[in-house]
Amino acid sequence: VSLVLGIESSCDETAAAVVADGHDVRSNVVWSQIEEHRRYGGVVPELASRSHVERIVPVTERALAEAGIDPADLDAVAVTARPGLVGCLLVGLVAAKTIAWRFGLPLVGVDHVSAHVHAAFMACGENAPPLPMLCLVASGGHTALYDVAAPGAIAPLGRTLDDAAGEAFDKAAAILGLPYPGGPSIEAAARAGGDPRAIDLPRPMLGPKSLDFSFSGLKTALLYHLRGNALRRPMPDLDERARADLAASFQEAVVQTLVRKLRRAVRHASEQGRERPRSLAIGGGVARNTRLREALAEDRELRDLELVLPPLSLCSDNAAMVAGLGDLLWRSGTTDDLSLPARPTSRRRGTTA
Ligand code: KG4
Ligand code: ZN
Repeated sequence: VSLVLGIESSCDETAAAVVADGHDVRSNVVWSQIEEHRRYGGVVPELASRSHVERIVPVTERALAEAGIDPADLDAVAVTARPGLVGCLLVGLVAAKTIAWRFGLPLVGVDHVSAHVHAAFMACGENAPPLPMLCLVASGGHTALYDVAAPGAIAPLGRTLDDAAGEAFDKAAAILGLPYPGGPSIEAAARAGGDPRAIDLPRPMLGPKSLDFSFSGLKTALLYHLRGNALRRPMPDLDERARADLAASFQEAVVQTLVRKLRRAVRHASEQGRERPRSLAIGGGVARNTRLREALAEDRELRDLELVLPPLSLCSDNAAMVAGLGDLLWRSGTTDDLSLPARPTSRRRGTTA
C-alpha cells in the first residue's frame, strides 16, 4: 500500500487528505472560507492567505488522525504548487515542505487543474475509464477542456477567454441578489420552480470550430435584460418567481453551452487529428451542478461515451485529488526538492501533469 498526504491551499479552501494506492480516500478534510469572503462577494486574497495560516496545521493534523496514520508511515507529501493565489499557495507549500523535511519524505508539487482532471480517475478506482477521455474542468477560476490520453497525460483543447463558468455563476448571482457563491444559490433558486425558457440568453459558441469558452457576455445579457441599455436605471425589484425564472434561464444557458462544446469536441476529434474520446468526465466546482450532470447523462449524442461524474467531494477544491495525482507522480519518479516554488499560473500549457 502506498500512502500519500495531500495538501491544498490554492484559493479559499484549506484542505488535507490521505489517499492509499492513489485512489482509496482514507480522509478528506476541507475547511472552506466561504463564510469569511461572502460579504465581499468573492475571495479576498489577503484574507484567504491569513486564514490558511491559521488552519493549515489543524486541518493537516485532522486528516492524519481521521486516516489513523502516523506521518512517519507516509510514502510522500503532495502539495498544490500552481496555479492559484500566490500567498495562499505558499502556506500549503511551507506546511508540506516542513513535513517532508521532518519525516524524510519525498515532496511532490502538483498542478491544481491537473488534479481536478485526475479526480475522474480516482472516482473510477481500479476500473479505469476507456481512453482517451475528454475532460471538462469548470470552476471559479478555470474553465478548460482536455484530451486525456492516460492518467497524468493531458493536452488542453480549449479554455475560457474571459470569465470561468463558476465566475459567471457568481456574477449572475450578484446581479440577481442571490448569495455568494453563486453556483449553489442559482441552482437552488432555479430548482424552486424556475422556467429555464423564461428568457432568451445566448449560448456563446465563438464560431463554428472553437473549443474555447466565453462567459462574460452571458452575464452582460442578463444585466441588459434586467435594466435595458440604460445603465443608470436602478435594478428592478425581483419577486421570488422572477428570480427563479432568471436563475433557471441562466443556469440553462451555461449548461447548454458546456454540453454543446463537449459535443463539438467529440464530433471534431478526427478532423482535429485526435482519437475520438471514449469517455467523458467533468471536474471543478461547477461539476457539482445537478442540471449539468442530468444534461450530460441524458444527451443522445454523447451517450456512447462512458460518463464519469466524480462524487461531489472530489469536484470542488479538495486535497484528495492532490494526493491522488501526487501518488502517480511519485511512482513515476517525478518529485521535487525543498526549493519548489509557488507559481500563480500553470507552468506549461503542455502535455503532462
Ligand atoms: O473548484 P472550486 O471549488 O474552486 C475553484 O477552484 O474555483 O469551484 C468553485 C466555483 C464557484 O464559482 C461556485 O459558484 C461554483 O464552483 N459552483 C457551482 C456549484 N457549486 C459550486 N456552480 C454551479 N452549480 C453548483 N452546484
Ligand atoms: Zn479548483
